[in-house]
Amino acid sequence: MPILWNPETREIHLRNDSISYIACIFENGYLGQLYFGPALDPDRSYRHLYRGEFKGFSNSGGEFVRLEYPARGNGDFRAPALVVKQADGSTVLDPVYAGHRIYAGKEPIPQLPATYVEDPAEADTIEISLRDAVSGTEITLYYTIFRDRPVVARSVRVRNSGKKPLELSSAMSASLDLPDADWDLLSLAGTWARERSVKLRHIEPGSQGISSSRGSSSHQQNPFVALQRPGATETLGEVYGFGLVYSGNFLADVEVDAFDVARVRIGINPDGFSWRLEPGAEFRTPEAVLAYSPSGLGNLSDAYHGLYRERLARGYWRDRPRPVLINNWEGTYFDFNEKKLLDIAGTAKDLGIELFVLDDGWFGERNDDHTSLGDWFVDRKKLPDGIEGIANKIEALGMKFGLWFEPEMVSEKSKLFAEHPDWAIGVPGRPRTEGRNQLVLDMGRPEIVDYLFNLISGVLRSAPISYVKWDMNRNITEPYSLALPPDRQGEFFHRYILGVYDLYERLTGAFPQVLFESCASGGGRFDAGILAYAPQAWTSDDSDAIERLRIQWGSSIGYPLSSMGAHVSAVPNHQVGRITPLSTRAAVAFFGVFGYELDAAKLGPQERAEVALQVAFYKKHRDLVQKGRFLRLLSPFEGDGNRTAWMVVSKNSREALVGYYRVLNRPVAPMSTLRLRGLDPKASYRVSTWPAGADAASRYNTGIRGGDELMGAGLLLGGDGWDAGKQGDFWSRLFVIEAV
Ligand code: DGJ
Repeated sequence: MPILWNPETREIHLRNDSISYIACIFENGYLGQLYFGPALDPDRSYRHLYRGEFKGFSNSGGEFVRLEYPARGNGDFRAPALVVKQADGSTVLDPVYAGHRIYAGKEPIPQLPATYVEDPAEADTIEISLRDAVSGTEITLYYTIFRDRPVVARSVRVRNSGKKPLELSSAMSASLDLPDADWDLLSLAGTWARERSVKLRHIEPGSQGISSSRGSSSHQQNPFVALQRPGATETLGEVYGFGLVYSGNFLADVEVDAFDVARVRIGINPDGFSWRLEPGAEFRTPEAVLAYSPSGLGNLSDAYHGLYRERLARGYWRDRPRPVLINNWEGTYFDFNEKKLLDIAGTAKDLGIELFVLDDGWFGERNDDHTSLGDWFVDRKKLPDGIEGIANKIEALGMKFGLWFEPEMVSEKSKLFAEHPDWAIGVPGRPRTEGRNQLVLDMGRPEIVDYLFNLISGVLRSAPISYVKWDMNRNITEPYSLALPPDRQGEFFHRYILGVYDLYERLTGAFPQVLFESCASGGGRFDAGILAYAPQAWTSDDSDAIERLRIQWGSSIGYPLSSMGAHVSAVPNHQVGRITPLSTRAAVAFFGVFGYELDAAKLGPQERAEVALQVAFYKKHRDLVQKGRFLRLLSPFEGDGNRTAWMVVSKNSREALVGYYRVLNRPVAPMSTLRLRGLDPKASYRVSTWPAGADAASRYNTGIRGGDELMGAGLLLGGDGWDAGKQGDFWSRLFVIEAV
């Protein structure tokens, strides 16, 4: 049993072959944290790891005591995980141990996405109950340890078993007190079109962290952080990961106290949050996924990739090869008619593309972004035979058809707004801030979710629609719900996201074979919460190959390739004006869920031939890309960022694909090598370049090589000599590695 309870020492030890997580009940009944790290002997006690010595001018409650779910008001002055306002106005809590329950498997979290097991033997769970006798606050901490993963999933239930109402003003998903502060905090920061850049800072006494209060997880910060030892690399050094399975406002922070204990918290952003609990009512937090790697960031990413791909993503498409798609957005924007779309689709079909996605502009009178959101009725001026007509024509070509929606939004110029102006979020008597000329529907109101479900289901039933792109293009301002009383307005944002999840749950339930791709102006809601419903997401609106190196690298730290939509677009690129070779655009987009975002009918004969080869190449390797192990080799965030390399290797190490990218060409480049990882050192591999060539990369590297050599000596790069003059900037090379 991987969860052990020692009644004498009152220790709880969650353990598998790679990690141990140990908590204990102190004399005062508080639940303390003893250890999280490499697996420890299950037969020993670790209670001595509690260090309760006196530090001058500190309270008996313990300034530095390491707690599992700290409350506030009794000697712990660090940021609390839980704050409960009681009927008398106080917020002091004494949560003491009241019991626990251990069982095989893992229960779902009502109304929230979460990791899961398919067989109870895959994980064990302990529920630990704490109780504050005075207020009647009952806290249940859920911990699941997965048998074969270095991961502990945590969540919390808070119940009011008292007689008076309570109000939560903070209920984090997890809090973890680490015994030292020698860590760098890694976060994924950015903005629209440059999401998830890797940021590192050394933690210092005081508080540091990231958050979102935009109503979604946001482009600006991602609900994932790691703590790594200074100098840690992809393969060396301890790293802890903290991911949140949530798509709304979040907080992830680290507070270092005067004694170098580092408290990490992750959960719903307490800023602007409150939740009223009437007697008998309960609140469930989202799930936090904690992971540990003794050997660098690469293994930490492995843990998240495997868990999120196999036990967070769900349904029909989880394990199936995702179709190569073409999306018309950058090809036409709003300016299309049926003929134009069929021309794109017809060409795409000839090139081997499997799915045609009709993006924004098919409904209402939407010829620009000022109108019609909410009116999910086809615009017959553009599509005289309706969605049914175009979908059937695409199907007749032998392709699948997909459709764009932005369910949560309403344009002021729309029938929906005319009928239900009160459905749009806003504070009565105050002007509403528009974002992209649109307003947001109050998804916390069940009647709005019902309406959207019926309307969108009707469209999905009306035609052969195999794919839905669910977009969300603005942040939420003037947060306020007409459906909530004044003392419940703090519930607004969480209720909004619960409504989004409800609609996702109902639509994916009613249309289990439809592939959902999430999107929020690219990667504005690229998080583990949405991944539970939509197994892939449009990673960024920036489709430039060079920008994508950083975006996909950063995203890969916490998320699998199977979650990252990656498309080849036209040049000059629409976001940055850069002209990159078609081969490089594909070589970057291959490392994700591959597709095109252009008007295929405008491609010349040579480009068409090249695209056909790209599509065939991706199809041949897509199982490897979508399910293999992704390894980052050369970071675009390090040094001058001129070179990036990564690879994906199959589970059995028999097959790998390596991508190498060079931003600017320089004359007479130094010789360099690229050491691969994850191969079988004893195996022999055939190395080939794709497309095949006679350049230096091909001359030096193609042939049979040992796995030991490829990992020890590496691929030989930089000997391009006179070839360099032909390569130009934005050059890339793919290496296919196959065991013989
Ligand atoms: C933002 C998305 O990220 C784009 O891909 C596109 O769907 C537009 N919205 C459409 O308005």
